[in-house]
Amino acid sequence: MAGQNGDLQGDVFYPPEDIVKNANARDWEQMQKEAAEDLEGFWEAEAEKYHWFDKWDQVLDDSNPPFYKWFTGGKTNLAYNCLDVHVQNSNRNKLALIWEGENDEQRTFSYYALYRETCKFANILKALGVEKGDRVTLYMGPVPETVMAMLACARIGAIHSVVFAGFSKEALRERVEDSQSKVVITQDAGYRNGSEVPLKQTVDKAIRHVGFVENVLVVQRTGSEVHMEQGRDHWYHELAEMPIASRDCEAEEMDAEDMLYLLYTSGTTGKPKAIVHTTGGYMVGIATTLRYVFDLKPSDRFWCAADPGWVTGHSYIVYGPLLLGATNFMYEGAPTYPYPNRWWKMIEYYGLNILYTAPTAVRGLMKFGRAWPDRHNLSSLRLLGSVGEPINPEAWKWYHEVIGYEQCPIMDTWWQTETGGFMITPVPSMPLKPGSATKPFFGVEADVVNDDGESVDPDEEGYLVIKKPWPGMLRTLYKDEERFKETYWSKFEDQGWYLAGDSAKKDEDGYFWVIGRIDDVLNVAGHRLGTAEVESALVSHDAVAEAAVIGVPDDVKGNAIHAYVILTVGYEGTEDLTDELVEHVADELGPIAKPANVEAVDSLPKTRSGKIMRRVLRAKAMGEEVGDLSTMAD
Ligand code: PRX
Repeated sequence: MAGQNGDLQGDVFYPPEDIVKNANARDWEQMQKEAAEDLEGFWEAEAEKYHWFDKWDQVLDDSNPPFYKWFTGGKTNLAYNCLDVHVQNSNRNKLALIWEGENDEQRTFSYYALYRETCKFANILKALGVEKGDRVTLYMGPVPETVMAMLACARIGAIHSVVFAGFSKEALRERVEDSQSKVVITQDAGYRNGSEVPLKQTVDKAIRHVGFVENVLVVQRTGSEVHMEQGRDHWYHELAEMPIASRDCEAEEMDAEDMLYLLYTSGTTGKPKAIVHTTGGYMVGIATTLRYVFDLKPSDRFWCAADPGWVTGHSYIVYGPLLLGATNFMYEGAPTYPYPNRWWKMIEYYGLNILYTAPTAVRGLMKFGRAWPDRHNLSSLRLLGSVGEPINPEAWKWYHEVIGYEQCPIMDTWWQTETGGFMITPVPSMPLKPGSATKPFFGVEADVVNDDGESVDPDEEGYLVIKKPWPGMLRTLYKDEERFKETYWSKFEDQGWYLAGDSAKKDEDGYFWVIGRIDDVLNVAGHRLGTAEVESALVSHDAVAEAAVIGVPDDVKGNAIHAYVILTVGYEGTEDLTDELVEHVADELGPIAKPANVEAVDSLPKTRSGKIMRRVLRAKAMGEEVGDLSTMAD
C-alpha cells in the first residue's frame, strides 16, 4: 500500500488493507476536505445520528466569542442516548458493560440491565434531594456503579464532578467546596495492587468541616468496615431495596447548552481549574470522534484502560462507547496484579478488539519483557490507542509489534480535558508515523504558530493553536470566566484562536508532533499536575520556606518530579525530613504527586521579577549547560 497517499517522509506505517476497507472513515482525505469546507454541515450530519427531544435552531452560535454555543435550542439527554435508545432497539439484551474486579470478580450488564440500574440510581439521587443543576461529587474507582452514578446524574440533569480516587483528602475537600456539592458518592474502599484503598474514610476526613454536604451515598465494594454517620451516610444497596428506587426514571429534557459536568484539572496557578462541559455538543463531539478514530462498530468490545476520574474515562469509558452501542470493558485494578500478564490475559479471555491506553502504561508493561504478552493470544485486537503524552518510538514499536502483531494501527490521540474529545488524531485508514498524533480530526483547524500568530516553517517549534470552535470544547471555567478568557483566549485574542498550552511542530507532510507543555504544568505518568500545586503542598509544611519543582525525564513515567526546597531556619535537610516531605505531598495532593527526589538548597534561581527559573534547575538536574542567565537576579 506504500505510496497510496503520496510519498511521506520518515518512518511510516501503512495500515493493512482490510482495516482501510472496513473503516468508518475509509476516505479520510475526502472527509477532511468536506468538513473543512462546511464545518457546520459536517457536525449537523453527525448530530442527526442521535436522539433529540427537540431539534436545534442553530448549529453554531458564534455571536459572543469565546463563549461559543452548539446546537442551540436543541433538547437531548446523554443517558437517554446511552441507554434508552438501545433498550428500544435490538441492542436491549446485548452486553453494554463487562467488568472485572482486581480480585477476579466479574459482572456484566446488558443494555437493559444498565438502564434499569441507572434509573434506580437516579431515583435514589432524587430521593436524596438532588435536582437539575445541583452538583454531585463522585470519589470512586473503576466499578460499574461509577458508570451508573454518572449516567444517573446526566439522566436527571445533575452536574457530576468526579474526583480521581488517587487524590488526597485535601484535594477532595477543595473540589467539594468549590463545586458546592450537597451529595458525595463514594465506595467503602477499592482494590488496587492487592490492597484496599479506603475511599469512604478519605471522604469523611475531606468533608469534616464542609457544612453543606447533606448526604453521602456509599457503594459497598470490599465489605470493609467503615464509619457511617447517622442521618448523613447511606448504603447504596440498602436504598436500592426500597420503593424509592424504582426501575424507571424519566430522562430530563436537557438544553444542548445545559451543563453536563465539571472536571478539575491542573493549570499554572495552585488552584485547579474546573472545566465546564455541556450536553449537546459534547455528546456529538465524543461520539463522532470515537466512531471514526476507533472505528467503533456495535459488534466491538472496546477497552479504554483509563480511570473514570479523568476526562479520558468520562468521554471514552462512560459516554462514548455506550452512545455507539458497543460493548465496553472496564477493569478495576493495577495492570501488573498479580502478575504482569493481567492485561494480556483479559484481552485474550474477553476477546477485546480495541485497547486504548497511555504511553506510561505501555512502558511500564514493556519493562517486564515480551514473555508475558507472548503467553497469550492477542489476535482479537484490531486497533490500539495512545493518549496523555507523546509516545516515544521505542514504546510505539513494542506496542505495535508485541501487542498488535504489526497488524493494528496505533491511534495516537492528542487532546485535553478542555477539548472534550480527540483533536489531533489519525483514523485507522491513515498512514502513521510513530510519535506523531498525525493530523487534525475532521472539522478541526489546528496550526503551529509563533508569537505573532504566523504559521511556523515545517519542523520548527511553535504554539499549538485551534483556529475554529468545535462542539466538544469547554464552555468556560466554573465560576471564573476571566480565567477562562485569560488562559485560553488572550494570547491570540485578535485572531480568536484557542491556545492549547502545548508546543508542537508540523512536518513537511503536515503531520503534527506535540512536544510538551509550554506552561508550568507537569506531565507525570500521563497525569497533569501544576508545579504550583506541588510547591504549595511543600510550603504548607513547617519545615519549608520556599519550594520549586521541575519534571525530569523518567523511563516509565515520562517525567518524575524533582523538588528543591529552602528550609525554614532551625530545620536540617536530613533523609528523615525529605522522606517526611514526600509523604506530606502525598497527603496534600495524592500519591501521584509524590516527588521522586527532594533536595534542600540555600537559594533558588530567580528572575529579577522574582519568577523561579525552572529551566536553570532543570539544566542543573540533567547536567546540561544552563544557557542565558542575563535575567537572573544574582
Ligand atoms: O500536553 C498534552 C498532553 O496532555 C495534555 C492534556 O492533559 P489532560 O487534560 O490531563 O488530558 C489527558 C487526556 C486527554 C495536553 O495538553 N497530551 C495528551 N495527549 C497527548 C499529549 N501529548 C502528546 N501526545 C498525545 N497524544
